[in-house]
Amino acid sequence: MQRPENLILVIFGASGDLAKRKLIPALIELYHQNLMPENFAILGVSRTDYSDSTFRTEMTESINEFLDDKDISKKTINEFVKNLYYQPIDTSKADDYGLVKNKLNELNEKLNTNGNYIFYLSTPPSLYEVIPKYLAQQGLNKNQNRIRRLIIEKPFGYNLETAISLNKKLLEDYEEEQIYRIDHYLGKETVQNLFVTRFSNGIYEPLWNRNYVDHVEITSAESLGVEGRGGYYDNSGALRDMVQNHLLQMAGFVAMEPPSSLDSRAIRNETLKVFQSLRPIKESEVKSFSIRGQYVASKIKGEEVLGYREEKGVNPKSKTETYAALKFYIDNWRWGGVPFYIRTGKRLPTKVTEIVIHFKETPHYLFSKKTNSEACNKLIIRIQPDEGILLKFGMKVPGAGFNVQNVNMDFHYKDISDEKMPNAYERLLHDAMLGDSTLYARGDAVEEAWKFIAPIQKVWESDKSIKIYGYPAGTWGPEKADELIEKQGITWRYPCKNLADDGKYCEL
Ligand code: BG6
Repeated sequence: MQRPENLILVIFGASGDLAKRKLIPALIELYHQNLMPENFAILGVSRTDYSDSTFRTEMTESINEFLDDKDISKKTINEFVKNLYYQPIDTSKADDYGLVKNKLNELNEKLNTNGNYIFYLSTPPSLYEVIPKYLAQQGLNKNQNRIRRLIIEKPFGYNLETAISLNKKLLEDYEEEQIYRIDHYLGKETVQNLFVTRFSNGIYEPLWNRNYVDHVEITSAESLGVEGRGGYYDNSGALRDMVQNHLLQMAGFVAMEPPSSLDSRAIRNETLKVFQSLRPIKESEVKSFSIRGQYVASKIKGEEVLGYREEKGVNPKSKTETYAALKFYIDNWRWGGVPFYIRTGKRLPTKVTEIVIHFKETPHYLFSKKTNSEACNKLIIRIQPDEGILLKFGMKVPGAGFNVQNVNMDFHYKDISDEKMPNAYERLLHDAMLGDSTLYARGDAVEEAWKFIAPIQKVWESDKSIKIYGYPAGTWGPEKADELIEKQGITWRYPCKNLADDGKYCEL
């Protein structure tokens, strides 16, 4: 594993939650594994009035609270935080960026970092146009023989128009190669493994197409609710928060053609082609191709659980979806006619992300079966937790007759390594420092993904006849979602049972 060139990583929004929970813990992990540059500084920038020393104390506390690695000693933490610095500014004032520039000059001289700077925008999206512009006014965008990169958190845009406009604004001062758009799902080890499973084995690819695959199911379920992020979430909803980015990116990895090389351009070209092949859902079809839901109060294991509308920061009459399920097609030679079903939701019974490839039934099934689905092989790629791959197939039950039972070939990631699974941000930050953008979303692909969901957004927002279904917290979402998978005997896969002791399905 390579160490990046000496550089300074500037984190805007350094006093915020993401920096504390994810970025700083990921950076110390990299430091611990000797994957940070030999000389580096992490410069926190935000409004809060910290000094270098108070910032270090704050971040030490966050590391103690959020770092999940007992192997990292106190000594390592103390050494690491000496590389942290801080500059308070008002990010909306152009002149304040002069302070950032001065501090960077000072650190650059001290650390011999060759003017290599990466700017991480961990701020509210309203600043995604502002900060890069003001940095450029200070000349901090110019990358001749130096590293000058922007890392931009999601959400990248609020809809198609704002995503296009943001791309355009950024490209006024930066090259596409300098812009790294985060989709942290691509940083997950198991999402990358999907790529390895498909393209390092000869046995899957011949089956990975319309001739053998009946349908593909992608689920990303969360058991938690909005957890204090009601204000943000109520303006977003599951479609923007999860589908437009994480779920479609996973679908891109499942459906892409083998790239010509491991080069970032080659791989991202293939993802783009998948998005360009998504069959547009017409406004008149939105009703039959999508379902939305919102969790309502219930009781789980005797405990009352709040409904979404009762959560802090949420409008009591909110129509924001906390559950979204879609059916779509990819119109190309590989996938023509194969439905893809994707769903995501908050307050479902468990936290699980998985991709299920449902293979077609054998042409002539000789044995007795209870359901159609029972006679089909399934490949289940478990993205999280309990990362691994499971193949379901039929075996003869010992004894008289030909009774068939479905059994599992079950591989768990933890069986090949005792190493803990790296956090997605570790991989992504390391890649950005090395200049590898493969696991970041490219501007054109982000726009295509928005284009695909635009009609759904529009109809959900404007058509009063499109229902929003209430589902009790702790259940697998609206019952109505079953109707999306309309084939006889085929349902969504339910990795575990509903949890709610009581609660009502309803229309909101
Ligand atoms: C984020 C969403 O992008 O992903 C959150 O904004 C969601 O609402 C989170 O909870 C899920 O990520 P993970 O890695 O926990 O599955």
